[in-house]
Amino acid sequence: MSLAEPDFDMSVERTGQQRYKRITTHVLQEMKLKGEKIAMLTAYDYSMATILDAAGIDVILVGDSASNVMAGYKTTLPITLNEMIYHAASVVRAVQRALVVVDLPFGTYQGNSKEALSSAIRIMKEAGANAIKIEGGKEIQESVDRILSAGIPVMGHLGLTPQSIHKFGTYVVRATEEKEARKLLLDAHLLEESGCFSLVLEKIPSILAKEVSSGLKIPTIGIGAGPHVDGQVLVLHDMLGITHNFSPRFLRRYHNLYEEIKGSVKSYITDVKASSFPNERESY
Ligand code: KIV
Repeated sequence: MSLAEPDFDMSVERTGQQRYKRITTHVLQEMKLKGEKIAMLTAYDYSMATILDAAGIDVILVGDSASNVMAGYKTTLPITLNEMIYHAASVVRAVQRALVVVDLPFGTYQGNSKEALSSAIRIMKEAGANAIKIEGGKEIQESVDRILSAGIPVMGHLGLTPQSIHKFGTYVVRATEEKEARKLLLDAHLLEESGCFSLVLEKIPSILAKEVSSGLKIPTIGIGAGPHVDGQVLVLHDMLGITHNFSPRFLRRYHNLYEEIKGSVKSYITDVKASSFPNERESY
């Protein structure tokens, strides 16, 4: 896309709004100003990212939830930077329109801000991502500042931050007590003042998410944070029903692919065992 080219295609209408040709951090800002909600989903591979992009998703998050849904770990902690880069590069190869944001995995930014910057640079350079996401507030401010100073867009993440699960001890709703809610509000403003372009709010009371979102100029993206945020994100495998043993209240399942795929595999097994596959038309 040339610099002179507009970000939106005037000829295509979507829910009465201009359909953007390419989603950038500036487009997300514009969407917030216009009151157009931002739709974000996770993806970790080329095939799924192709479908999401063709469907018109605004943001694809290569989340460290890949650690759970792709690799089968219990938490997001084990996934490595090399593994995240592999997933992110696969997604980037598929995408023509969506903004691709990639999680900095656990242990690649908490040590010091130089390490954080070199991790972020590897994601941008080796995967070709558009932005990175990082969990935490004041305690990681130096890292956020250093990454931003290199011209890398940063999405913040507050509330339930799964990389700190061993500190929390549980995945229950965060910031229900006033002290934690006040810290979250301060952290949100700190991240905005640092220059983050957006903020994920995970599993916090709807009323708090509303207060954060209305007080910030940058868009907020909620997961389990109620409707008063500027956009929503879900883990793709959860909303498609590929995962089947995870049913938090905030999750809306749009499919039951676990059962559908299992049914298809059973039919295939039956056909192979009965020698009804392949038939003549399926043979050379
Ligand atoms: O890793 C992830 O999928 C996330 C979302 C749940 C926001 O961080």
